[in-house]
Amino acid sequence: MNIVWATSEAAPYAKTGGLADVSYSLPYALAENGHNVSVFMPYYPQVMGEKCADTELVYDLLGVPLGDGNEQWARIRQHKINENLSFYFIECDRYFDRPKLYDWGGSEYSDNAERFIFLSRAIMQAVLALDIEADVLHANDWHTALCNVYLKSHLYDSFDNFANTKSVMTIHNIGYQGVFNKSNLYWTGLGWDYFNFQCLEFYDQMNFLKAGVLTADIVTTVSPTYAEEILSREYGFGLQNSLQHRAVQGKLRGILNGIDIHEWNPETDELIPENYSLTELAGKAVCKAALQEEFGLDVKADVPVYGVVSRLADQKGLDVFIECIDEMLKEDNVQFVVVGSGEQWQEEALSNYSRIYPGKFGCYIGYSNKLAHMVEAGADFFVMPSRYEPCGLNQMYSMRYGTIPIVRSTGGLEDTVNNYSASNINKATGFKFYDLYPDALRGTMRWAGLIYHHDKAAIEKMATNGMKIDFSWHHTAVEYEELYQHAKSRF
Ligand code: ADP
Ligand code: GLC
Repeated sequence: MNIVWATSEAAPYAKTGGLADVSYSLPYALAENGHNVSVFMPYYPQVMGEKCADTELVYDLLGVPLGDGNEQWARIRQHKINENLSFYFIECDRYFDRPKLYDWGGSEYSDNAERFIFLSRAIMQAVLALDIEADVLHANDWHTALCNVYLKSHLYDSFDNFANTKSVMTIHNIGYQGVFNKSNLYWTGLGWDYFNFQCLEFYDQMNFLKAGVLTADIVTTVSPTYAEEILSREYGFGLQNSLQHRAVQGKLRGILNGIDIHEWNPETDELIPENYSLTELAGKAVCKAALQEEFGLDVKADVPVYGVVSRLADQKGLDVFIECIDEMLKEDNVQFVVVGSGEQWQEEALSNYSRIYPGKFGCYIGYSNKLAHMVEAGADFFVMPSRYEPCGLNQMYSMRYGTIPIVRSTGGLEDTVNNYSASNINKATGFKFYDLYPDALRGTMRWAGLIYHHDKAAIEKMATNGMKIDFSWHHTAVEYEELYQHAKSRF
């Protein structure tokens, strides 16, 4: 199949979160299975830095209609990974030559609606320009959701390149929908016919994700539990009715993400001080000592270290973590390391802890892939108290590194972690809690600590249970393949 994958970010070129990881690994896995995959994303010169040198110009003067007949010019750059997989970058400095992807100085760019309408339209134009006969158009999150609207619209329905195209809309995070003032409809070139409740209209504003959800042939999200949760008011962020509509039609599926098992492999990881494996675990203790040293903690082998690597956003529930650990820092023999950035009050609260409790609490405020790897390898426990979590990758990285996840039971966390109890020790991989309250999280972290001190064998068993699980993309790619085939056979 010819698969067109539309995204606003992909690792290693530009990444703010898991969408970037998925947008490299899943296309890669699909290409390995013999499909022809073209990934389209913006060309961000400032963010991509030296990665820009990997790209070559393959198309100049791509005309992208914007508004009433005005054309914006763009270029297409290519990075060919292998025969079956190419990344194509839409180059248009006016929209994408910026210091960060979506925001600057704490606020979203004021022209984000225009930027991502442009991106979606440019991807449609690029598919025509490169003459790709797309079997599947796969859009991801709100930034590229309008591709699905364009595909079905009068603007593209007569092109041969799209004559047999089925569309997929994947929701990686429903907390971000691309809701803008309706005056931005102008940029789409679609016209007011599309501003209705079955497409772009959402409480008298434009909602990109809603339009993608309602126009795509199939909607997916990144774990089975999240696919159910988003049908509820609590998790649907206002889109629950639209999603219920698609679910009743049998068009909503939850497919669990995988992880890049080559990048995240304790046996070969070059970012950690010593490698280790299921059969030779000794290196993990070296990684723990190095982590403690790196964060200025007391270097002690017998203290449980709880790690966090996260965006500091409401979604991640770290407000509750911040609230509940003070008591543990005062009373317990524990250590914490946090790598994260985001909401300023959380950054300040975490930095404060490292001043008040040096030796017990260390943090790095910012983005560091190296430290992320060091935490995964060196911590004993990895904490994810997410308010909601469509899939979550870090808990899977943790298990691969023999680091035991402590998670709130939601979305992909529910689907990937097996809760510990003495009776299911052969299957247990982590600890779960259910209500997002400081007492619940603290109680679970303390419980894990208790087992750490008093039942070493159980901890070791859980760690090795996790290390044995195959979280590779292979399974995910097979499920998407089936989904694409199903979509093609149905119409
Ligand atoms: P989300 O996409 O919601 O942030 P995921 O768990 O799917 O959550 O993916 C997060 C990805 O971003 C992981 O690869 C994680 O290691 C990485 N990450 C998040 N924050 C940081 C940080 N401060 N430094 C390094 N890596 C980070
Ligand atoms: C989003 C979600 C995260 C998921 C990732 C990749 O960023 O917050 O849970 O793992 O997308 O699908």
